[in-house]
Amino acid sequence: MKISIVGTGYVGLCTGVGLAVKGHNVTCVDIDKEKVEKINTGKSPIYEPGLGENLARVLKEGRFRATGDIKGAITNSDVTFISVGTPSREDGSIDLKYIKQASRNIGNVLREKQGWHVVVVKSTVIPGTTEGVVKKNLEEASGKKAGKDFGLCMNPEFLREGKALEGFLNPDRVVIGELDKKSGDPVAGLYEGFRAPVMRTGIKTAEMIKYASNALLATKISFINEIGNICKKLGIDTYDVAKGMGMDKRISPQFLQSGLGWGGSCFLKDVAAIVAKGKELGCMAGLLESVIKVNEEQPGVLLKLAEGKAGSVQGKTIAVLGLAFKPDSDDIRESRSIPLIKALRKKGANIVVYDPKAMENMKVFFPDIEYAGSAKEAVGKAEIVLIATGWEEFKDPELYGNKIVIDGRNIFKDGKKLDNYEGLCW
Ligand code: UGA
Repeated sequence: MKISIVGTGYVGLCTGVGLAVKGHNVTCVDIDKEKVEKINTGKSPIYEPGLGENLARVLKEGRFRATGDIKGAITNSDVTFISVGTPSREDGSIDLKYIKQASRNIGNVLREKQGWHVVVVKSTVIPGTTEGVVKKNLEEASGKKAGKDFGLCMNPEFLREGKALEGFLNPDRVVIGELDKKSGDPVAGLYEGFRAPVMRTGIKTAEMIKYASNALLATKISFINEIGNICKKLGIDTYDVAKGMGMDKRISPQFLQSGLGWGGSCFLKDVAAIVAKGKELGCMAGLLESVIKVNEEQPGVLLKLAEGKAGSVQGKTIAVLGLAFKPDSDDIRESRSIPLIKALRKKGANIVVYDPKAMENMKVFFPDIEYAGSAKEAVGKAEIVLIATGWEEFKDPELYGNKIVIDGRNIFKDGKKLDNYEGLCW
């Protein structure tokens, strides 16, 4: 099938390359000329395992290209995905300016285009957005009617950074929210070669499945962190508790790793957006508000442990190992190392940090802290070491000597012992 994708961010590019790998013909559209050129030379603008190689392969095989020409891309395709960003506003609600713009641009092309064309929203949008904002803008710009002249679907993406392409190609499930059967059929056709259950449902339901999934994952982590803080006081290893709980199929062991909390571009944005929408509708979302609160407090819990072990941090040199929001990523968005560094600064500590991939990104936020050339150098300079991201290279016990180590990610769970070690929730 011929597919166009508007927006070549994380989701757009992985979806495009993934669908091309599955044999479809994909054109990705972006207004950023440099990005388009880079993609067309086979260089992925983001780091993601397998993406670069597969991008180069599908380009060479002629099933994938990037362009700035939205008209050509849409005219020569049957299905168009919208995968532009939906940034957060101050109050937690999402900003739909890129969604509106993309819908209008697509609508303008559909005005002239003959034949059945389906528009699919892949961006994460609050329930009601596709059938409200997207449909309205498409209809106004095209002068045509959704359901009669063109199709409309919402197909949420559940991929995880660091496993994005693999996750796209081997999903647990595919959810297709469809305006009607004629809209959903071509989209379901795209996923025929996938070994995953396909759920076809209403558009609003599909939109909510995405939010509810992320909200539950964030809830599981905040839950185990709250239990973990209590366990710590009781001298119990939360990981043993999570193991025992996870054997219950209804609970599952996934996303029960306690520690410094969740970061990344989606969890906070999505949980805050659903809380804001709930409030707008007069529904309290106290549970989800607490999920955010627990997450915000977790870096402070780590700091208290450090102070309990070493006294005041004022004037002391503290090493923060790990700046990325999770290992194998250079993404620092909502990384728990950010509030940790802020709190250390407030308390007058000297801070030295190290991360194998994310230091350049963090320098924009904190230009005035010390960036070490290696984990060894950071540890060597510090009196206390705080582990904020579970990078593989931090798992070497030799690195730490007899330094005080407070571990926020349980990286020594396979039995390695350190002299002066304290776990956050274990
Ligand atoms: C998350 C979801 O897992 C994806 O399904 C979803 O598609 C994506 O958001 C999105 O909406 O775009 P991602 O942000 O890439 O994916 O990262 P995760 O692997 O879910 O990790 C999120 C954070 O939770 C990380 O900071 C990680 O360290 C933390 N985490 C994860 C824990 O603290 N404990 C756990 O047990 C699991």
